[in-house]
Amino acid sequence: MSIRYDGKVAVVTGAGGGLGRCHALELARRGAKVVVNDLGGAVDGSGGSSEAALAVVDEIKKAGGEAMANGSSVSDPAGAQKIIQDAVDAYGRIDILINNAGILRDRTFKKMTLEDFRLVCDVHLMGSVNCTRAAWETMIAQGYGRIVMTTSSSGLYGNFGQSNYGAAKLALVGLMNTLKLEGAKYNVRVNTIAPVAATRMTEDIMPKEALEALRPELVTPAVLFLCSEDAPDGAIIEAGAGYYGRVQIVESAGVHLGSSVSAEDVADNWAKISDMSEAKPHKSGGEVTLKIFGMSGEG
Ligand code: NAI
Repeated sequence: MSIRYDGKVAVVTGAGGGLGRCHALELARRGAKVVVNDLGGAVDGSGGSSEAALAVVDEIKKAGGEAMANGSSVSDPAGAQKIIQDAVDAYGRIDILINNAGILRDRTFKKMTLEDFRLVCDVHLMGSVNCTRAAWETMIAQGYGRIVMTTSSSGLYGNFGQSNYGAAKLALVGLMNTLKLEGAKYNVRVNTIAPVAATRMTEDIMPKEALEALRPELVTPAVLFLCSEDAPDGAIIEAGAGYYGRVQIVESAGVHLGSSVSAEDVADNWAKISDMSEAKPHKSGGEVTLKIFGMSGEG
């Protein structure tokens, strides 16, 4: 099966380097017209220049592809609107949005300023919300859209010193979980990548041998699958160094303890409550409510 994007228009945010650059190059190589967005700032989000995005556009054009640069910030709603508008103005539509732009402001929670917390949420969470909102109506109206969020194992599982980043990254899974429901009947599918790759973001925190194995090019195939015609909906793929695994939030089979329950009852039943041997994912919050009432009826 060959995956192509001929006739498709893609936006990749934060594509001036690292993972975003790889996604943009590969989308273009497979026929997509690509808007390469990048604010061009430092890892902590300071500064900005359009050079990074322009250099990637040059690379794409030299390889025979079609691309244009955009230097807006995803965290600015008007900027996000412009990213999507640039795609529609230049290429007539928007089919694929890869929400990839991101920054780090690591500190233990004790030392973290609220400003650093907010800024990281602004770029990762609100940046993805702003761009998705700007593309959403067009995708719904045309009956086609593929959106990829970028989460992180820091959000899925936690990472020391990254409370701001982890909170923002897991929020994107929450965003996906509702958008997959709202987009489904319009053929707008929303998925999430959890990458591990050697980029400027990770070059100081991983050993050299690990960095050599963690080529960003090995994350891109999962992203390309998640934004293809036959993409799944609501899936999370963890990808790095040639490894690909599916991540799901699951809930234990649980136990119904009756209609008069004390804290001691919960403590006494903790082993059963937390027995994950029959844990399952749910397609929506409503499914959990049905499960609760189903169990209640049996109890
Ligand atoms: P990177 O720093 O090379 O790429 C991030 C890009 O986003 C940069 O080019 C930066 O200029 C751009 N950017 C930052 N703020 C922006 C804004 N407001 N508007 C537009 N562009 C902006 O780092 P990397 O590793 O390529 O990160 C890409 C994504 O993958 C990020 O969302 C990151 O959190 C995520 N990620 C990366 C992991 C890794 O192992 N490298 C692990 C887990 C997640």
